[in-house]
Amino acid sequence: MSEQNNSHGFETICIHGGHSPENKRAHLTPIYATSTFTFDSAEQGIAVFKKEEEGYIYGRFGNPNTNEVEEKIALLEAYGLKDSSGRQMELKAILHASGMAALTTMLMSNLKAGDKMITHESLYGGTQEMLDKILPHLGITAIIADFHDVAAVEEIIISDSDIKLMHIETPANPTLQCVDMEALTALGKQYNLVVTADNTFATPYLQQPFKYGVDFVMHSTTKFLNGHGTAVGGILIGKDIELMNGVVTKTHRLLGGNSNAFDAFLLNNGLKTFSLRMQQHCRNAEKVAAFLETHPAVSKVHYPGLASHPDHAIAKKQMKHAGAVLSFELKGGFDAGVSFINKLKTCVSAVSLGTCDTLISHPASTTHVGVKPEDRVRFGITDGLIRMSVGIETLEDIINDLTQALQ
Ligand SMILES: Cc1ncc(COP(=O)(O)O)c(C=O)c1O
Repeated sequence: MSEQNNSHGFETICIHGGHSPENKRAHLTPIYATSTFTFDSAEQGIAVFKKEEEGYIYGRFGNPNTNEVEEKIALLEAYGLKDSSGRQMELKAILHASGMAALTTMLMSNLKAGDKMITHESLYGGTQEMLDKILPHLGITAIIADFHDVAAVEEIIISDSDIKLMHIETPANPTLQCVDMEALTALGKQYNLVVTADNTFATPYLQQPFKYGVDFVMHSTTKFLNGHGTAVGGILIGKDIELMNGVVTKTHRLLGGNSNAFDAFLLNNGLKTFSLRMQQHCRNAEKVAAFLETHPAVSKVHYPGLASHPDHAIAKKQMKHAGAVLSFELKGGFDAGVSFINKLKTCVSAVSLGTCDTLISHPASTTHVGVKPEDRVRFGITDGLIRMSVGIETLEDIINDLTQALQ
Protein backbone atom coordinates (compact mmCIF):
# COMPACT_ATOMS: atom_id res chain seq x y z
CA MET A 1 0.00 0.00 0.00
CA SER A 2 2.58 2.56 -1.09
CA GLU A 3 0.00 4.82 -2.69
CA GLN A 4 -2.96 6.40 -0.90
CA ASN A 5 -5.31 3.45 -1.25
CA ASN A 6 -8.88 4.22 -0.38
CA SER A 7 -10.33 0.92 -1.52
CA HIS A 8 -9.20 -1.08 1.50
CA GLY A 9 -11.18 -1.63 4.68
CA PHE A 10 -10.72 0.50 7.80
CA GLU A 11 -8.70 -2.19 9.64
CA THR A 12 -6.45 -2.80 6.62
CA ILE A 13 -5.75 0.92 6.43
CA CYS A 14 -4.91 0.92 10.17
CA ILE A 15 -2.23 -1.68 9.47
CA HIS A 16 -0.91 -0.94 5.99
CA GLY A 17 -2.06 2.63 5.24
CA GLY A 18 0.76 4.98 4.24
CA HIS A 19 3.41 2.24 4.21
CA SER A 20 5.99 2.30 1.40
CA PRO A 21 8.30 -0.70 0.97
CA GLU A 22 11.67 0.21 2.33
CA ASN A 23 14.77 -0.29 0.18
CA LYS A 24 16.61 -2.47 2.74
CA ARG A 25 13.50 -4.72 2.92
CA ALA A 26 12.66 -4.06 6.57
CA HIS A 27 9.13 -5.21 7.38
CA LEU A 28 8.34 -2.03 9.32
CA THR A 29 9.60 1.40 8.35
CA PRO A 30 12.80 1.80 10.40
CA ILE A 31 13.09 4.84 12.65
CA TYR A 32 14.77 7.53 10.56
CA ALA A 33 16.93 9.09 13.27
CA THR A 34 18.37 11.73 11.01
CA SER A 35 17.94 15.48 11.01
CA THR A 36 18.60 15.94 7.31
CA PHE A 37 18.54 14.10 3.97
CA THR A 38 21.09 14.00 1.17
CA PHE A 39 20.73 14.80 -2.53
CA ASP A 40 22.25 12.78 -5.39
CA SER A 41 23.22 15.97 -7.16
CA ALA A 42 22.65 19.72 -7.11
CA GLU A 43 20.03 19.24 -9.83
CA GLN A 44 18.16 16.64 -7.80
CA GLY A 45 18.21 18.95 -4.76
CA ILE A 46 16.76 21.75 -6.89
CA ALA A 47 14.01 19.43 -8.17
CA VAL A 48 13.07 18.34 -4.64
CA PHE A 49 12.99 21.94 -3.41
CA LYS A 50 10.81 22.92 -6.38
CA LYS A 51 8.52 19.93 -5.59
CA GLU A 52 9.14 18.60 -9.13
CA GLU A 53 10.47 15.43 -7.53
CA GLU A 54 9.41 13.70 -4.32
CA GLY A 55 12.03 13.61 -1.62
CA TYR A 56 12.87 14.48 1.93
CA ILE A 57 14.81 17.63 2.72
CA TYR A 58 15.11 18.32 6.44
CA GLY A 59 13.71 16.76 9.61
CA ARG A 60 11.50 19.70 10.54
CA PHE A 61 9.75 19.33 7.16
CA GLY A 62 9.08 15.59 7.62
CA ASN A 63 10.64 12.15 7.29
CA PRO A 64 9.45 8.67 6.17
CA ASN A 65 8.01 7.87 9.62
CA THR A 66 5.95 11.05 9.90
CA ASN A 67 4.89 10.70 6.28
CA GLU A 68 3.61 7.14 6.79
CA VAL A 69 1.45 8.04 9.75
CA GLU A 70 0.17 11.22 8.08
CA GLU A 71 -1.04 9.23 5.08
CA LYS A 72 -2.61 6.60 7.32
CA ILE A 73 -4.58 9.09 9.42
CA ALA A 74 -5.68 11.04 6.32
CA LEU A 75 -7.06 7.76 4.89
CA LEU A 76 -8.86 6.95 8.14
CA GLU A 77 -10.50 10.39 8.42
CA ALA A 78 -11.63 10.16 4.77
CA TYR A 79 -12.72 6.54 5.04
CA GLY A 80 -15.91 5.97 3.02
CA LEU A 81 -16.49 9.71 2.41
CA LYS A 82 -17.09 11.29 -1.01
CA ASP A 83 -15.98 14.72 -2.19
CA SER A 84 -18.29 17.23 -3.91
CA SER A 85 -17.87 15.48 -7.27
CA GLY A 86 -18.78 12.07 -5.86
CA ARG A 87 -15.23 10.71 -5.80
CA GLN A 88 -13.50 9.24 -2.74
CA MET A 89 -12.50 12.18 -0.56
CA GLU A 90 -8.76 12.89 -0.37
CA LEU A 91 -7.28 14.57 2.67
CA LYS A 92 -3.84 15.75 3.64
CA ALA A 93 -2.50 15.43 7.19
CA ILE A 94 0.46 17.00 8.94
CA LEU A 95 1.89 15.42 12.08
CA HIS A 96 2.83 17.72 14.95
CA ALA A 97 4.70 17.48 18.25
CA SER A 98 1.43 17.71 20.22
CA GLY A 99 -2.26 18.37 19.90
CA MET A 100 -1.56 21.95 20.99
CA ALA A 101 0.99 22.36 18.17
CA ALA A 102 -1.60 21.11 15.64
CA LEU A 103 -4.16 23.55 17.06
CA THR A 104 -1.63 26.40 16.82
CA THR A 105 -0.87 25.68 13.16
CA MET A 106 -4.59 25.43 12.44
CA LEU A 107 -5.41 28.79 14.04
CA MET A 108 -2.33 30.62 12.74
CA SER A 109 -2.97 29.41 9.18
CA ASN A 110 -6.48 30.82 9.18
CA LEU A 111 -6.60 33.88 11.42
CA LYS A 112 -4.84 37.26 11.48
CA ALA A 113 -4.91 40.31 13.75
CA GLY A 114 -8.41 41.82 13.85
CA ASP A 115 -10.14 38.49 13.16
CA LYS A 116 -12.47 36.76 15.58
CA MET A 117 -13.38 33.13 16.06
CA ILE A 118 -16.52 31.68 17.54
CA THR A 119 -16.58 28.60 19.71
CA HIS A 120 -18.37 27.04 22.69
CA GLU A 121 -17.86 26.37 26.40
CA SER A 122 -16.24 23.22 27.78
CA LEU A 123 -13.31 23.12 25.39
CA TYR A 124 -10.19 21.20 26.37
CA GLY A 125 -8.50 23.35 29.06
CA GLY A 126 -5.35 23.98 26.98
CA THR A 127 -7.45 25.16 24.02
CA GLN A 128 -9.43 27.49 26.27
CA GLU A 129 -6.21 28.90 27.75
CA MET A 130 -4.81 29.44 24.26
CA LEU A 131 -7.92 31.47 23.38
CA ASP A 132 -7.71 33.44 26.65
CA LYS A 133 -3.98 33.98 27.00
CA ILE A 134 -2.27 33.76 23.59
CA LEU A 135 -4.75 34.87 20.91
CA PRO A 136 -5.50 38.30 22.48
CA HIS A 137 -1.77 39.20 22.18
CA LEU A 138 -2.05 38.51 18.45
CA GLY A 139 -5.13 40.72 18.09
CA ILE A 140 -7.47 37.73 17.71
CA THR A 141 -10.63 37.47 19.80
CA ALA A 142 -12.52 34.30 20.71
CA ILE A 143 -16.27 34.57 21.24
CA ILE A 144 -17.82 31.85 23.39
CA ALA A 145 -21.42 31.03 22.45
CA ASP A 146 -24.01 28.41 23.35
CA PHE A 147 -23.64 26.00 20.43
CA HIS A 148 -26.84 24.23 21.44
CA ASP A 149 -28.71 27.31 20.29
CA VAL A 150 -27.91 27.44 16.56
CA ALA A 151 -30.24 30.41 15.93
CA ALA A 152 -28.43 32.46 18.60
CA VAL A 153 -25.07 31.51 17.07
CA GLU A 154 -26.35 32.71 13.69
CA GLU A 155 -27.34 36.06 15.18
CA ILE A 156 -23.86 36.53 16.62
CA ILE A 157 -22.24 35.66 13.27
CA ILE A 158 -24.53 38.04 11.36
CA SER A 159 -23.80 40.86 13.81
CA ASP A 160 -20.01 40.61 13.51
CA SER A 161 -18.30 40.39 10.15
CA ASP A 162 -14.90 39.95 11.83
CA ILE A 163 -15.82 36.39 12.78
CA LYS A 164 -13.83 34.21 10.40
CA LEU A 165 -13.62 30.80 12.04
CA MET A 166 -15.88 28.41 13.95
CA HIS A 167 -14.27 25.82 16.23
CA ILE A 168 -16.15 22.73 17.41
CA GLU A 169 -15.06 20.16 19.99
CA THR A 170 -17.48 17.28 20.45
CA PRO A 171 -17.67 15.38 22.78
CA ALA A 172 -16.01 17.85 25.13
CA ASN A 173 -14.61 17.82 28.64
CA PRO A 174 -15.66 17.19 31.39
CA THR A 175 -19.40 16.69 30.97
CA LEU A 176 -19.04 15.05 27.54
CA GLN A 177 -21.22 17.77 26.03
CA CYS A 178 -21.92 17.08 22.35
CA VAL A 179 -22.94 19.67 19.79
CA ASP A 180 -24.61 19.15 16.43
CA MET A 181 -21.76 19.16 13.95
CA GLU A 182 -24.00 18.97 10.88
CA ALA A 183 -26.15 21.98 11.83
CA LEU A 184 -23.21 24.08 13.03
CA THR A 185 -21.01 23.32 10.02
CA ALA A 186 -23.86 24.15 7.64
CA LEU A 187 -24.30 27.46 9.47
CA GLY A 188 -20.58 28.23 9.41
CA LYS A 189 -20.28 27.48 5.69
CA GLN A 190 -23.40 29.59 4.96
CA TYR A 191 -21.45 32.60 6.29
CA ASN A 192 -18.14 31.54 4.70
CA LEU A 193 -16.45 30.73 7.98
CA VAL A 194 -13.58 28.30 8.19
CA VAL A 195 -14.98 25.42 10.25
CA THR A 196 -12.59 23.42 12.40
CA ALA A 197 -13.15 20.41 14.65
CA ASP A 198 -11.19 18.80 17.47
CA ASN A 199 -11.96 15.09 16.98
CA THR A 200 -9.70 13.80 19.78
CA PHE A 201 -12.38 12.22 21.99
CA ALA A 202 -14.30 10.56 19.15
CA THR A 203 -11.52 9.65 16.69
CA PRO A 204 -12.29 8.77 13.05
CA TYR A 205 -13.46 5.36 14.24
CA LEU A 206 -16.53 6.95 15.85
CA GLN A 207 -17.06 10.24 14.06
CA GLN A 208 -15.94 11.82 10.78
CA PRO A 209 -16.33 15.61 10.80
CA PHE A 210 -15.41 15.90 7.09
CA LYS A 211 -18.73 14.17 6.36
CA TYR A 212 -20.45 17.40 7.38
CA GLY A 213 -18.17 19.72 5.41
CA VAL A 214 -15.72 20.95 8.05
CA ASP A 215 -12.49 22.36 6.63
CA PHE A 216 -9.98 21.12 9.19
CA VAL A 217 -9.84 18.38 11.80
CA MET A 218 -7.23 18.17 14.53
CA HIS A 219 -6.43 15.54 17.13
CA SER A 220 -4.24 15.04 20.08
CA THR A 221 -2.75 11.75 18.80
CA THR A 222 -1.45 11.30 22.35
CA LYS A 223 -4.84 9.73 23.13
CA PHE A 224 -6.76 6.94 21.35
CA LEU A 225 -4.81 7.11 18.08
CA ASN A 226 -1.54 6.21 19.79
CA GLY A 227 -3.48 4.18 22.33
CA HIS A 228 -0.56 3.13 24.50
CA GLY A 229 0.50 6.41 26.07
CA THR A 230 3.98 6.18 24.53
CA ALA A 231 4.21 9.57 22.80
CA VAL A 232 2.69 13.03 22.84
CA GLY A 233 1.60 14.11 19.37
CA GLY A 234 -0.95 15.96 17.29
CA ILE A 235 -2.26 15.90 13.76
CA LEU A 236 -3.88 18.49 11.55
CA ILE A 237 -5.92 17.28 8.59
CA GLY A 238 -7.39 19.39 5.80
CA LYS A 239 -9.46 18.83 2.68
CA ASP A 240 -8.11 21.70 0.58
CA ILE A 241 -4.93 19.97 -0.56
CA GLU A 242 -3.49 23.10 -2.19
CA LEU A 243 -4.00 25.09 1.00
CA MET A 244 -2.52 22.25 3.08
CA ASN A 245 0.53 22.04 0.81
CA GLY A 246 0.84 25.83 0.73
CA VAL A 247 -0.01 28.14 3.64
CA VAL A 248 -0.60 25.37 6.18
CA THR A 249 2.66 23.53 5.47
CA LYS A 250 4.55 26.83 5.54
CA THR A 251 2.94 27.78 8.88
CA HIS A 252 3.71 24.34 10.32
CA ARG A 253 7.34 24.51 9.24
CA LEU A 254 7.90 28.05 10.45
CA LEU A 255 6.21 27.58 13.82
CA GLY A 256 8.39 24.51 14.27
CA GLY A 257 5.90 22.24 16.02
CA ASN A 258 7.08 19.19 14.06
CA SER A 259 6.97 15.66 15.37
CA ASN A 260 9.92 13.27 15.10
CA ALA A 261 10.69 9.84 13.68
CA PHE A 262 10.52 7.93 16.97
CA ASP A 263 7.16 9.34 18.10
CA ALA A 264 5.76 8.81 14.60
CA PHE A 265 6.96 5.19 14.68
CA LEU A 266 5.21 4.63 18.02
CA LEU A 267 2.02 6.26 16.78
CA ASN A 268 2.05 4.20 13.58
CA ASN A 269 2.51 1.00 15.56
CA GLY A 270 -0.27 1.94 17.97
CA LEU A 271 -2.63 2.60 15.07
CA LYS A 272 -2.32 -0.95 13.78
CA THR A 273 -4.69 -2.14 16.54
CA PHE A 274 -6.79 1.04 16.58
CA SER A 275 -10.06 -0.51 15.41
CA LEU A 276 -9.82 -3.50 17.76
CA ARG A 277 -8.95 -1.26 20.69
CA MET A 278 -11.84 1.08 20.00
CA GLN A 279 -14.32 -1.79 19.93
CA GLN A 280 -13.21 -2.99 23.37
CA HIS A 281 -12.93 0.57 24.78
CA CYS A 282 -16.52 1.27 23.73
CA ARG A 283 -17.90 -2.07 24.96
CA ASN A 284 -16.30 -1.58 28.36
CA ALA A 285 -17.30 2.10 28.66
CA GLU A 286 -20.95 1.36 28.00
CA LYS A 287 -21.00 -1.27 30.76
CA VAL A 288 -19.04 0.90 33.21
CA ALA A 289 -21.41 3.85 32.63
CA ALA A 290 -24.44 1.62 33.29
CA PHE A 291 -22.79 0.23 36.44
CA LEU A 292 -21.97 3.70 37.80
CA GLU A 293 -25.42 5.08 37.04
CA THR A 294 -27.00 2.71 39.55
CA HIS A 295 -24.26 2.94 42.20
CA PRO A 296 -25.46 4.53 45.48
CA ALA A 297 -22.23 6.56 45.95
CA VAL A 298 -22.64 8.25 42.55
CA SER A 299 -25.04 11.14 42.05
CA LYS A 300 -24.59 11.61 38.31
CA VAL A 301 -22.89 9.99 35.32
CA HIS A 302 -21.98 12.04 32.26
CA TYR A 303 -21.79 9.70 29.29
CA PRO A 304 -23.43 10.49 25.94
CA GLY A 305 -24.32 6.85 25.50
CA LEU A 306 -26.75 7.01 28.41
CA ALA A 307 -30.32 8.07 27.68
CA SER A 308 -30.02 10.41 30.71
CA HIS A 309 -27.29 12.51 29.01
CA PRO A 310 -28.72 15.79 27.64
CA ASP A 311 -26.90 15.29 24.31
CA HIS A 312 -27.67 11.60 23.89
CA ALA A 313 -29.65 12.24 20.68
CA ILE A 314 -26.87 14.34 19.12
CA ALA A 315 -24.24 11.72 19.97
CA LYS A 316 -26.43 9.00 18.49
CA LYS A 317 -26.86 10.99 15.30
CA GLN A 318 -23.20 11.71 14.61
CA MET A 319 -21.20 9.04 16.43
CA LYS A 320 -20.98 5.33 15.72
CA HIS A 321 -20.80 4.80 19.49
CA ALA A 322 -20.58 7.19 22.45
CA GLY A 323 -16.89 6.48 23.02
CA ALA A 324 -14.84 5.58 26.07
CA VAL A 325 -14.54 8.74 28.13
CA LEU A 326 -17.04 9.49 30.87
CA SER A 327 -17.23 11.44 34.09
CA PHE A 328 -19.24 10.96 37.24
CA GLU A 329 -20.01 12.86 40.41
CA LEU A 330 -19.45 11.36 43.84
CA LYS A 331 -22.03 12.21 46.49
CA GLY A 332 -19.29 12.77 49.08
CA GLY A 333 -17.70 15.73 47.22
CA PHE A 334 -13.98 16.60 47.37
CA ASP A 335 -13.00 14.19 50.18
CA ALA A 336 -14.82 11.31 48.50
CA GLY A 337 -12.91 12.11 45.28
CA VAL A 338 -9.52 12.00 47.02
CA SER A 339 -10.38 8.82 48.92
CA PHE A 340 -11.67 7.11 45.74
CA ILE A 341 -8.44 7.88 43.84
CA ASN A 342 -6.31 6.60 46.74
CA LYS A 343 -8.12 3.27 46.82
CA LEU A 344 -7.73 2.40 43.11
CA LYS A 345 -5.69 -0.77 42.48
CA THR A 346 -6.13 -1.73 38.81
CA CYS A 347 -7.26 1.54 37.26
CA VAL A 348 -4.48 4.07 37.01
CA SER A 349 -4.56 7.50 38.60
CA ALA A 350 -3.33 9.82 35.85
CA VAL A 351 -4.49 12.62 33.60
CA SER A 352 -4.76 12.04 29.82
CA LEU A 353 -7.06 9.54 28.15
CA GLY A 354 -7.29 6.99 25.37
CA THR A 355 -4.64 4.55 26.57
CA CYS A 356 -5.21 0.78 26.79
CA ASP A 357 -5.32 1.04 30.55
CA THR A 358 -8.13 2.77 32.40
CA LEU A 359 -7.04 6.26 33.45
CA ILE A 360 -8.88 8.08 36.20
CA SER A 361 -8.46 11.63 37.43
CA HIS A 362 -10.04 13.92 40.01
CA PRO A 363 -9.96 17.36 38.34
CA ALA A 364 -10.76 19.35 41.53
CA SER A 365 -7.59 18.09 43.26
CA THR A 366 -5.32 17.94 40.19
CA THR A 367 -5.81 19.65 36.80
CA HIS A 368 -8.20 22.30 38.10
CA VAL A 369 -6.78 22.84 41.60
CA GLY A 370 -5.75 26.41 40.64
CA VAL A 371 -9.15 27.34 39.23
CA LYS A 372 -11.43 29.36 41.52
CA PRO A 373 -14.18 27.14 43.03
CA GLU A 374 -16.96 29.30 41.52
CA ASP A 375 -15.36 29.01 38.05
CA ARG A 376 -14.98 25.26 38.49
CA VAL A 377 -18.69 24.96 39.15
CA ARG A 378 -19.42 27.09 36.06
CA PHE A 379 -17.33 24.66 33.96
CA GLY A 380 -19.21 21.68 35.47
CA ILE A 381 -16.21 20.58 37.54
CA THR A 382 -17.84 19.81 40.84
CA ASP A 383 -15.66 18.84 43.83
CA GLY A 384 -16.64 15.19 43.56
CA LEU A 385 -16.27 14.91 39.78
CA ILE A 386 -14.15 12.01 38.54
CA ARG A 387 -13.04 11.70 34.92
CA MET A 388 -12.50 8.25 33.56
CA SER A 389 -11.02 7.01 30.29
CA VAL A 390 -12.21 3.43 30.17
CA GLY A 391 -9.47 1.05 29.06
CA ILE A 392 -9.50 -2.33 27.39
CA GLU A 393 -8.79 -4.47 30.46
CA THR A 394 -11.17 -7.31 31.38
CA LEU A 395 -14.44 -5.57 32.21
CA GLU A 396 -14.92 -7.42 35.51
CA ASP A 397 -11.53 -6.20 36.74
CA ILE A 398 -12.46 -2.57 36.06
CA ILE A 399 -15.86 -2.96 37.75
CA ASN A 400 -14.34 -4.79 40.74
CA ASP A 401 -11.76 -2.05 41.20
CA LEU A 402 -14.44 0.67 41.03
CA THR A 403 -16.62 -1.28 43.45
CA GLN A 404 -13.94 -1.52 46.11
CA ALA A 405 -12.79 2.10 45.62
CA LEU A 406 -16.35 3.40 45.93
CA GLN A 407 -16.94 1.66 49.28
C1 LIG B 1 -9.66 17.37 23.30
C2 LIG B 1 -8.21 17.70 23.38
N1 LIG B 1 -7.67 18.50 22.45
C3 LIG B 1 -6.36 18.84 22.49
C4 LIG B 1 -5.53 18.38 23.49
C5 LIG B 1 -4.09 18.78 23.52
O1 LIG B 1 -3.30 17.72 23.13
P1 LIG B 1 -1.77 17.50 23.58
O2 LIG B 1 -1.78 17.28 25.05
O3 LIG B 1 -1.35 16.32 22.77
O4 LIG B 1 -1.05 18.76 23.20
C6 LIG B 1 -6.05 17.53 24.47
C7 LIG B 1 -5.18 17.01 25.55
O5 LIG B 1 -5.64 16.48 26.54
C8 LIG B 1 -7.43 17.18 24.42
O6 LIG B 1 -7.99 16.37 25.34
